[in-house]
Amino acid sequence: MTAPTIESILHENRLFQPSSEFSNQAQIKSLQDYEQLYERAKADPVAFWAELAEQELHWFQKWDQVLDWQPPFAKWFVNGKINISYNCLDRHLTTWRRNKAALIWEGEPGDSRTLTYAQLHREVCQFANVLKELGIKKGDVVGIYMPMIPEAAIAMLACARIGAPHTVVFGGFSAEALRDRLNDGKAKLVVTADGGWRKDAIVPLKDQVDKALDDNAAPSVENVLVVQRTHQRIHMEPGRDHWWHDLRQGISSDCPAEPMDSEDMLFILYTSGSTGKPKGVVHSTGGYNLYTHMTTKWIFDLRDTDVYWCTADVGWITGHSYIVYGPLSNGATTLMYEGAPRNSNPGCFWDVIEKYGVNIFYTAPTAIRAFIKMGEHHPKARDLSSLRLLGTVGEPINPEAWMWYYRVIGGERCPIVDTWWQTETGGIMITPLPGAIPTKPGSATRPFPGILADVVDLDGHPVKDNEGGYLVVRHPWPSMMRTVYGDDDRFRRTYWEHIAPIDGQYLYFAGDGARRDDDGYFWVMGRVDDVISVSGHRLGTMEIESALVSHGAVAEAAVVGKPDEIKGEEIVAFVTLESNYSPSEELEKELKKHVVQEIGALARPGQIRFSDALPKTRSGKIMRRLLRSLAAGQEIAGDTSTLEDRSVLDKLREDS
Ligand code: WTA
Repeated sequence: MTAPTIESILHENRLFQPSSEFSNQAQIKSLQDYEQLYERAKADPVAFWAELAEQELHWFQKWDQVLDWQPPFAKWFVNGKINISYNCLDRHLTTWRRNKAALIWEGEPGDSRTLTYAQLHREVCQFANVLKELGIKKGDVVGIYMPMIPEAAIAMLACARIGAPHTVVFGGFSAEALRDRLNDGKAKLVVTADGGWRKDAIVPLKDQVDKALDDNAAPSVENVLVVQRTHQRIHMEPGRDHWWHDLRQGISSDCPAEPMDSEDMLFILYTSGSTGKPKGVVHSTGGYNLYTHMTTKWIFDLRDTDVYWCTADVGWITGHSYIVYGPLSNGATTLMYEGAPRNSNPGCFWDVIEKYGVNIFYTAPTAIRAFIKMGEHHPKARDLSSLRLLGTVGEPINPEAWMWYYRVIGGERCPIVDTWWQTETGGIMITPLPGAIPTKPGSATRPFPGILADVVDLDGHPVKDNEGGYLVVRHPWPSMMRTVYGDDDRFRRTYWEHIAPIDGQYLYFAGDGARRDDDGYFWVMGRVDDVISVSGHRLGTMEIESALVSHGAVAEAAVVGKPDEIKGEEIVAFVTLESNYSPSEELEKELKKHVVQEIGALARPGQIRFSDALPKTRSGKIMRRLLRSLAAGQEIAGDTSTLEDRSVLDKLREDS
């Protein structure tokens, strides 16, 4: 089994039809229904979204204009007043869903909790009132650095309720990475926990927060709100740090949702790009609420009795849109799991599915590949018959892994939705609608209604069917990112200027390569920039290079991804040393540790290769393309005539 390659998916043409039993009960029941919906949305996207916004969401006040598009800046539902926490909670309380499970949580050492909509509402209101007591007002940014416990979602919803944009930082990031994000967002408060469980060990989250705030290194942060999870001893800084369980004593559970402007910022989420520091992707309220609501409803084909489980972490966009906001806005039962599969517990996912009778299961190809390796006797030993629908996200899925997922987990009865999207898009963009669109292993199939996706060349002209090109979107959509926090210019440069506007029409450039086949199916090939994906986690090679050169021994570093069976890609770093250092195993270890300290364990290089020099063009640019081939052990193909010094490459090849 290999990670997806263009060759392996070029020849894939098996077609899987949903069963008529599935289609008959589905939200969108046939290909014809999808096509009609798609054509209607394409003919008038503004009317399409306006109708759904009216039908599906609660507004305190209706908008005066559906879309204000000043390329590349979009505003949706201008002057509409809305609150996503109201849509996720309050509006269900007056229905039979009041006592339905909103959130089922399975904790790692075996504890669990279920919160009904009424209970979740109460928790969120109290949390919001505590935030207010700590001085948080509408517009103040709140950092959330949490394990996968209900309070992570509660904190997000509490922020949304009072109009304080949140910025969730994945708990696997280091203190340094956390500090950078808190500073960029000028966060006033951090919500964290004493620790979290991760793969049989405690992650000391609060210690990391202390480190991030040490020496007043994140001066905007005034308070830290700490949730007790693991009960180990932590430092509590007087005046700055507060226990959630203390402050909630006697706090009111009445906290009306603040009517927010549709365009008010809901959150910032940092993500990696090909240049510079991670970007703060800004999402706003109304459009994001509508788009995550509709995509959850139609793609996951929700029924009111379903238990829906997305295995992402809330620190990533998938957790935001498809654990918290999309499912709750629909009144679904969303499951949250603190653990992760590992060798010591290879059946843990299947246990959770069996225990709760999960109907819809959404995970990442890297997890599926890890399960294949662990052996199918683990899932086979559990009852997975409750499953009706499967999904994947985060990276291309190789047809072999798709087939395994279909056969072993789905029992050949569950459609698979392979969903292509990004932090920037806010919601799923290209995907099967499971009752309507037949699937092909490895293809994300067709765009969601209202999404005008295309594959073009660098001049913006559509390429022919089956030819590779750049994946773009032609028309604004409600949950598109609004800007890079504090940097409109970077937003414009990164997403809207790679491909020149034609006749004033701006194209959103996703950074992915793709091709479209004769049936109009999209096949996403992966990034065309210097972004790599390790176990579905998105990392910029530049970030890792900057971390390496911040170490005194390193003169220069170039980082590339190498195909990996399970993780998709592995990080390989080519490093040249300062003259007073020489390569050694200890130094290799130390450099790996240094990267973990600077960014987090997710960025630990798999290999560090020392070299006297790096292959560069005459103008001094490192030729990463060559390093990628070297790392993968492939022949160096293509043009090497721009190399400044060919012997550098020969030497590297000899050493490998
Ligand atoms: C990749 C995750 C192929 C892609 C939601 C994209 C995918 C990046 C798929 C965004 C898929 C995501 N097939 N590639 N189904 N889903 N990607 O921002 O390269 O963490 O640009 O968002 O993941 O990663 P991000």
